[in-house]
Amino acid sequence: MNILGIGSALPEQTVTNHQLEAFLDTSDEWIKSRTGIAQRRVMKESELTSLALSAAQKALRDAGLKGADLDMILVATTMGDYVFPSLSCLIQEGLGATCPAMDLHAACAGFIYALETADSFIKAGKAKHILVVGAEAITRLANWEDRATCVLFGDGAGAVVAGPGEGLKALRLTARTDRNALYMLAEPGNNPFTGKPEEAPEGVKMQGQDVFRFAVTQSIEDLGWVADQVGVAVQEMDWVLLHQANRRILDAVRLRLKLDPKKVPGNIHRTGNTSAASIPLLLDELYRAGLLEPGQLIAMSAFGAGLVSGACVLKWGKEPPEELTAAEDLFSPPVNIMPEV
Ligand code: COA
Repeated sequence: MNILGIGSALPEQTVTNHQLEAFLDTSDEWIKSRTGIAQRRVMKESELTSLALSAAQKALRDAGLKGADLDMILVATTMGDYVFPSLSCLIQEGLGATCPAMDLHAACAGFIYALETADSFIKAGKAKHILVVGAEAITRLANWEDRATCVLFGDGAGAVVAGPGEGLKALRLTARTDRNALYMLAEPGNNPFTGKPEEAPEGVKMQGQDVFRFAVTQSIEDLGWVADQVGVAVQEMDWVLLHQANRRILDAVRLRLKLDPKKVPGNIHRTGNTSAASIPLLLDELYRAGLLEPGQLIAMSAFGAGLVSGACVLKWGKEPPEELTAAEDLFSPPVNIMPEV
């Protein structure tokens, strides 16, 4: 599988930590020092479909393809604007495509799970061009009265067009079920024949330190595994893109693996944790800034609720775009509070 085109989109509305101070018992200093997040993008209304569609259209344009050229649409998302039709069907409609479309839910690792799925269809000869989207409106699922979780998340969408080729060098997926570390209960509905749930649904719930430990240890293990498969040390990769969950997680992985900080970019300070959209958003930023060059090896690692994880190594094959976008700050200073893992 090769990546033929890439695009992304963020909501217009920016919400700073200072805005959160107005209604939460928190502070800009606390959030920045423990997460590296200064602001996030938050949807104004149910616009995930238009956000995902915009990312998809940019990726198609970048690939020089049209909706009609697609053989499949795969969308990694926790929840689209509708429970059904799926977000992928709504994107299909918007692109004027006629191919099969399905959503895939693997939380923050969803984009890597979707890349593996796309690669398998392409390798099996069942599809040539697959649109792979990571799109999330996690701020809609968060409990905005819970300062320990809502400050972490942001919304966004990133998309790639996958096609035949040898660019995907190695990929690993894992799942290890944990109902307590990071979860959100479904709404019970009003079925009169069903009793009340033991626990009322209250948005995203998390044991932050458990998730932190899982993220750091799993990411290090996964990156080591995919690097071994390729026969290139993680330290020798040109880029290591980590799921933008928390700047302290990025720093812990980077320090433990002794990675050159210039190879581990981050946009978490501007976007927050955008779940399945996080990796393609960051990849697109690097591409638009002209930082990706053909032949470069890019290791990616993501982890999230499930608990699930995914990592891969991609050999980048695209020339930089003709019109470059000035690189925003992709290498913010590390945060100052580092917990033991
Ligand atoms: N503002 C101010 N205080 C806060 C706060 C906030 N936004 N959120 C939590 N606190 C408080 C807690 O209530 C607690 O107070 P107490 O000591 O009086 O009880 C204190 O800060 C420490 O809480 P703790 O949960 O131990 O903080 P932490 O150092 O573990 O940081 C996280 C919390 C969530 C930032 C951290 O655990 C983390 O990043 N975990 C990984 C989360 C993640 O990335 N999840 C998604 C993965 S896909």
